[in-house]
Amino acid sequence: MIKIKRKIICLIFTLYYLNASVSYAENSVEVMHWWTSVGAEAKAIGTLKSDLAEKGIGWFDMPIVGGGGGNSSEVLRARVIAGNPPTSAALLGNKITEWANREGALRNLNSVAEKEEWSRLIPRAVQKFSKHNGDWIAAPIDFHSTNWIWINKEALDAAGGKAPETWDELVNVLDKMKENGIVPLGHGGEAWQEMTIFDSIVLGLGDDFYQSAFFDLDPLVLSGPKMLEAFDRMAKLRTYVDDNFSGRDWNIVVAMVAQGKAGMQIMGDWAKGEILNVGKLPDRDFICIRFPGTQGAITFNSGQFVMFNDVAEEQKAVQLEMASSIMSKKVQFGFNVYKGSIPARVDLDSDGFDSCAKKAMEDLAQADASGRLYGSMAHGHASTTEIQGAFYEVVTAHFNGELTSQEAVNELVQSIANLTQ
Ligand code: GAL
Repeated sequence: MIKIKRKIICLIFTLYYLNASVSYAENSVEVMHWWTSVGAEAKAIGTLKSDLAEKGIGWFDMPIVGGGGGNSSEVLRARVIAGNPPTSAALLGNKITEWANREGALRNLNSVAEKEEWSRLIPRAVQKFSKHNGDWIAAPIDFHSTNWIWINKEALDAAGGKAPETWDELVNVLDKMKENGIVPLGHGGEAWQEMTIFDSIVLGLGDDFYQSAFFDLDPLVLSGPKMLEAFDRMAKLRTYVDDNFSGRDWNIVVAMVAQGKAGMQIMGDWAKGEILNVGKLPDRDFICIRFPGTQGAITFNSGQFVMFNDVAEEQKAVQLEMASSIMSKKVQFGFNVYKGSIPARVDLDSDGFDSCAKKAMEDLAQADASGRLYGSMAHGHASTTEIQGAFYEVVTAHFNGELTSQEAVNELVQSIANLTQ
């Protein structure tokens, strides 16, 4: 059902954008992205838009609804195949690499990157996706960490007041919230949201486990007892979700937590952008903690803009200016303050950011120094789109009760083997 809904959305967007006979004024960019939540995301993207406007560059918005950017890839593919790519598109992780693998699709950004010394400013783990065969092909606009839990403060106080640090403590707090008559875990039933939780559960069972399950795709680890435990933990969390979770957008869940209808949400820090947007404050109204067992480590994703080669000359002229704007201190600050993330360049200080973002900046420095910075599988920074898709299918089928934990393990092992052999 959800898949059919997604296909219909993609089809409508594809038909719309393929047929649109937009004529671009000189000095303008057409930008594809999925930052469509009317609160924080719209404001965040607005900062880039207005920076370009100050430079006399117009903006044609090409928003594709669908959290995590899931729908946008298909629409983008259709546009490129039709020989009509947008000027620029936001992409995540391995999707950038996959586009770069298509000979000549992406514009080389070396001239601006070298002039502005991007290699000195961007964390290496992010650069891995901004570069291809040594050339710059993407400009990162944000750095999100995804192993967060956002907890309503009042609900936590009513549940004993102590932020959970271990799995058992988490279960304990969720039980108390259930007794208190609220939805303990706010959740949106979409594959990417379920996989976001799964990332945290896997990392919570150990860094080695995360590394060997997600990066090495080690069959012994994928079929082993820890993977079974990971699925059992997912099944346990499923018992704290309300009946209407299916297909719910992530920002609707944020509202549930902000209003105290739900106790918490396990989600990347774009959720915080939305909580702040409705006037809630960290420490006073909500708290941010790392998923129990993942303290000191980070699962991350970073939204990056690529520029397409096959565009009209007048758009080519402004692509490099747009890349430069994205990386400017002004846009990195404004965008990320709204978005809930932190800048993708490490030379901004934390003044003007909220306390959770300040913590995220410290955590990034620490995790980077200790080698505990991991790309998120859920958000395309651990493996290929195909492998990510295989995880999505199994994790979401299991969460929806279609597979037992053991069946999920078996299925996962099988689909990964099919894709890697
Ligand atoms: C993530 C993305 C965020 C945010 C979120 C919800 O994958 O990195 O920027 O948009 O999805 O759509």
